Amino acid sequence: MTIEEKLAELERRNAEAEIGGGETRIKKQHQAGKLTARERINFLLDEDSFHETDKFVVHRCTNFGMDQQHIPGDGVVTGYGQIDGRLVYVFSQDFSVFGGSLSKAYAEKICKVMDMATKMGAPVIGLNDSGGARIQEGVQALAGYADIFQRNVMASGVVPQLSAIMGPCAGGAAYSPAITDFIFMVRDTSYMFLTGPEVIKTVTQEEVTKEALGGAMTHNEISGVAHFAADDDETCLLMMREVFSFIPLNNQEDPPRKVCTDDPNRCEEALRNIVPANPNIPYDMKKVIEAVIDDQYFFEIQEHYAKNLLIGFARLNGGPVGIVANQPNVLAGALDIDSSMKGARFVRFCDAFNIPLIIFEDVPGFMPGVEQELGGIIKHGAKLLYAMAEATVPKLTVITRKAYGGAYCVMNSKHIRADYIFAYPTAEIAVMGPEGAVSIIHRDKIAGEGDAETTRKELVADYRAKFANPYSAAELGYVDEVIDPLETRPRLISALEMSKNKRDTNLPRKHGNIPL
Ligand code: HXC
Repeated sequence: MTIEEKLAELERRNAEAEIGGGETRIKKQHQAGKLTARERINFLLDEDSFHETDKFVVHRCTNFGMDQQHIPGDGVVTGYGQIDGRLVYVFSQDFSVFGGSLSKAYAEKICKVMDMATKMGAPVIGLNDSGGARIQEGVQALAGYADIFQRNVMASGVVPQLSAIMGPCAGGAAYSPAITDFIFMVRDTSYMFLTGPEVIKTVTQEEVTKEALGGAMTHNEISGVAHFAADDDETCLLMMREVFSFIPLNNQEDPPRKVCTDDPNRCEEALRNIVPANPNIPYDMKKVIEAVIDDQYFFEIQEHYAKNLLIGFARLNGGPVGIVANQPNVLAGALDIDSSMKGARFVRFCDAFNIPLIIFEDVPGFMPGVEQELGGIIKHGAKLLYAMAEATVPKLTVITRKAYGGAYCVMNSKHIRADYIFAYPTAEIAVMGPEGAVSIIHRDKIAGEGDAETTRKELVADYRAKFANPYSAAELGYVDEVIDPLETRPRLISALEMSKNKRDTNLPRKHGNIPL
């Protein structure tokens, strides 16, 4: 064969691989409102930056006539490329080829890019759209999944792993995204569950739709399995690019800085009035956050879940930070099971990837209630405590109002290695609120002689004067500075700058035993 003939063969083979399951199936994919595996990669990555690996890999299954059906690439497109000029590894499952189902060869392709990603120190993005284990392959497909799970675990905390669910993701297959750092789902076209509606009906007699069981909003609002919900494939992929802009390529890098055009010394008059004078009136902590960060740009994570705790990325003077904030507008900002888990996972992500943590605190305590206690709030609340306490990245706190009880300790207090703590003059740092405290320590006085209500009021006023302020904590050095709220931005930026060369380590150990 001449070189021209050989090149023609290469072109033919490339075209055969690129058409995947064929025009009809591609059309079906589009009709379902979905992009194809290759279109997704092209949309996700910088133009012309994708390099495909293993384009000609085929499965090795001979059961059920599979030896007659070989499609080059075998249903998953893998390789590397760039997002904003930064390296990333990608795999994109192709539903047009055997329903995107996973064979051993297909799993090996994914494992190869995961191995390269961990070796080269770059994130892995998985775009999931698959009918699960390829049924014709039997246990080999299961082995393939387990090989991927093992790599997900080994890569965790070493390189960021992002997963988009852009079609079915059922059965044990859901455990790969579950181990990754962030899950993005597309409304109406994606779903995740271990056992589908049919099996559930047989086993438990419950009737449920696919959407209610494992749709994007189910996992964003109720289960907390997912972190983002997008209206369509394009929006989902753009959100992934956005997250990418805040995170480093691996655990040995700092996150990427941006040029900051927002004045680092900007003081914000409005901050003096966001926290209401009456401590029982709620307010929106997002307003505080947005007034402080660069360009008011808060990229919220899990915005639909456990809304009493806000988490997300922002930038301060161009450098990415992870924000964790109580939200007094929801459940008065109390910490419950869901918000503790939400916060803990995010804190651990930031700590693993060198992203400083900024905590905005207004918390009346852990949520009281039989449901919470029986649900294991002790164990789940301890997750947040554990995550905050073990984190060694720069950790700064701004106490805007309440810092009560155990929640005071947990929300990055000085005692669990906060680097710098600011308090507003409106801060109240105490074991509990004045009303509750008085009814316990002065029960006898209130029940005694005189008008109980007047006595109670006097005692509450006395307690409030003693503890409902930042100064008793500041006298002990538990608060570094009490500041005028309008200065929050310059003060935080200065404290971040001060702590940028922070060195703090935990003792060597195989691993800790976070209460799971
Ligand atoms: C082989 C599969 C397949 C699979 C789909 N296909 N899933 N082939 N193995 N797991 C094929 C179909 O036969 C069909 O081929 C094509 O893909 C498209 O599928 P359709 O059913 O036509 O598409 P749709 O109606 O959109 O339904 C999608 C689906 C359904 C809901 C995903 O295909 C389905 O229920 N598949 C089986 C899901 C499943 O039970 N998987 C195993 C889960 S257990 P043709 O040639 O007809 O177009 C598992 C264990 C993992 O994954 C454990 C890890 C530890």
